Amino acid sequence: MRRVSSFTDSEYLKSKQYKDSSNLGARIALHRDYSTSSVGVWQWFFDMLLATLGSRARILEVGAGRADLWRENASRIPEGWDITLTDLSEGMLADGRQQLGELADRFEMHTANVQELADADNTYDAVIANFMLYHLPDRPKGIAQIRRVLKSDGVLFACTLGGNHMRQYWELVKSVVNQPDMVFQGHNPFTLEDGAQQLSTSFNDIVMVRYHCDLKVTEVDPMLAYFHSNGDKAIVSGEYDAAFREHVQREIDEKGHFFIQKDTGVFVARGSA
Ligand SMILES: C[S@@+](CC[C@H](N)C(=O)[O-])C[C@H]1O[C@@H](n2cnc3c(N)ncnc32)[C@H](O)[C@@H]1O
Repeated sequence: MRRVSSFTDSEYLKSKQYKDSSNLGARIALHRDYSTSSVGVWQWFFDMLLATLGSRARILEVGAGRADLWRENASRIPEGWDITLTDLSEGMLADGRQQLGELADRFEMHTANVQELADADNTYDAVIANFMLYHLPDRPKGIAQIRRVLKSDGVLFACTLGGNHMRQYWELVKSVVNQPDMVFQGHNPFTLEDGAQQLSTSFNDIVMVRYHCDLKVTEVDPMLAYFHSNGDKAIVSGEYDAAFREHVQREIDEKGHFFIQKDTGVFVARGSA
């Protein structure tokens, strides 16, 4: 049986999980609608970009997904920023273009595998690699490519997840699915805990900043959509839906919400190793 998340299988990611933005969209919707922080993750992240970069900057985003970062901060993008958005998946970028609407003209957008960037050395003031370095089969290679295309004083911003991310959700999935050969947690290969050490193969000044926010989910359907977004055949077929619904509904009835701990943050990396 396919593992619930094939983190680093690029062919699976491109042709199935991220063929288009529907799976990612279901996950983003849960975070968007049930977060405990009034400051959304993309506002928090953009505040940091604005505080770090000048009014003129050349920026590359790798694994940009459907470009939520830019859509959510549309009115705050400095005119002097020259921005290129890339992703492994053409379908993901197509959905991104559609969601950006007229704003899409503001960006250069094309497919690219971060492990094989075509850009010249010393091109960018900043590279953004959010929630994607854990997908690379050869992370040192991808990280070295990012370092290569950054200017010598350029900066990498890389959001990722910590080991406790969505802990209560994964405990629920484990108890509902009860399949020992499905791998759920503990296989994220680039976490808040070990990411700095991995980045240190190419960077020498690495700071991690946590984003403080959890989830209090008050409806079952968005959680079920999140569950299905992992793409596992047995899960998508609905085999576990009744049990999943029952567990979530029971907790919402008892406590008013289903609590899920989030564990996210960003690495800000500079210098050369
Ligand atoms: C979890 S999504 C994150 C999307 C976006 N950065 C965000 O935070 O909303 C991961 C994205 O990385 C892309 N991706 C996976 N492997 C990649 C690679 N080797 N090079 C470039 N993009 C990749 C996927 O297609 C997907 O859009």
